Amino acid sequence: MTRPRILQPAAAAAGDPAAEAAAGLLQPAAAVAPKFFYDAQGSRLFDAITELAEYYPTRTEAAIFAAHGPAIARAVLEHTGAPPVIVDLGAGNCAKGAALFPLLAPRRYVAVDISADYVAGALAQLQREHPALDLVGVGLDFSSRLVLPAELTGPRALVFYPGSSIGNFDPPGALALLRQARDVAGGGALLIGVDLVKPEAVLEAAYDDALGVTAAFNLNLLRHLNRLLGADFELRQWRHVARFDREASRIEMHLEARAPQRVRWRGGERSFAAGERIHTENSYKWTVDGFAALLREAGFAAPRHWSDERGWFALFVAGA
Ligand code: AVI
Repeated sequence: MTRPRILQPAAAAAGDPAAEAAAGLLQPAAAVAPKFFYDAQGSRLFDAITELAEYYPTRTEAAIFAAHGPAIARAVLEHTGAPPVIVDLGAGNCAKGAALFPLLAPRRYVAVDISADYVAGALAQLQREHPALDLVGVGLDFSSRLVLPAELTGPRALVFYPGSSIGNFDPPGALALLRQARDVAGGGALLIGVDLVKPEAVLEAAYDDALGVTAAFNLNLLRHLNRLLGADFELRQWRHVARFDREASRIEMHLEARAPQRVRWRGGERSFAAGERIHTENSYKWTVDGFAALLREAGFAAPRHWSDERGWFALFVAGA
């Protein structure tokens, strides 16, 4: 049995997450990047979110794959040729990537994730199920920059970016990431999940569920900052806010101070007035035409998409 290789490119070691988070807290309108949701507890809470009745994206994307998997695979293979290298962005537990194996019979699976440890555990399990497959884990925060060694991806790879995570980038950021994804694909293809514009009530319920799991996910970011920065955020002094901004076509998540307070951390501090907010996430919702235009602007060719009956979510395939 081959063993998964785990790489930690030098670029990934650069950057100081604590300094980045502290700088965000000190902006006039405090903001902390959504990657800080994902400590171990946050990753488990996100998994719980994907099972909520209100959070439709994960199950809708899975239903589109179930209904159209073979057609999607044919569209991918037209661009990549067979067998492709799959580069899975934000691979996490690798379940979505592994679901492509029977459809695409890849010659290599490259799982990219901000947490090399998490992906290493998932790949070790996957190797037992696919003993002969070349599995590679890459620990990389590709929200800053997506570059991978060319010998890993080869020509004509498939870049797979499911789950509508592209929605967590603003349009210029999404464009920049897609251009980098095109370079990684090197003449191959992109397969990407995109959440679509829909009624406000559906969107707001998805990001403010009745059980309060998304609220816990948002508040957990403060616990993560307490550990990362040695901060003294009191979680009970904050509340979860999620609102759809139709003009910007995005869900915004914030943490709102319930009372005036002063927060201290190693090397810094800040006062928050009652009602003052920390912006923690944007989740952009696209139209099919808008996203196809973005793909073309990023240099992708012939975008095609598959959707569900309600038109809530789309899977796009495009040539790199
Ligand atoms: C990871 N990302 C696509 C999720 C989203 O829907 O924007 C993160 C999330 N935030 C709150 N619920 C889920």
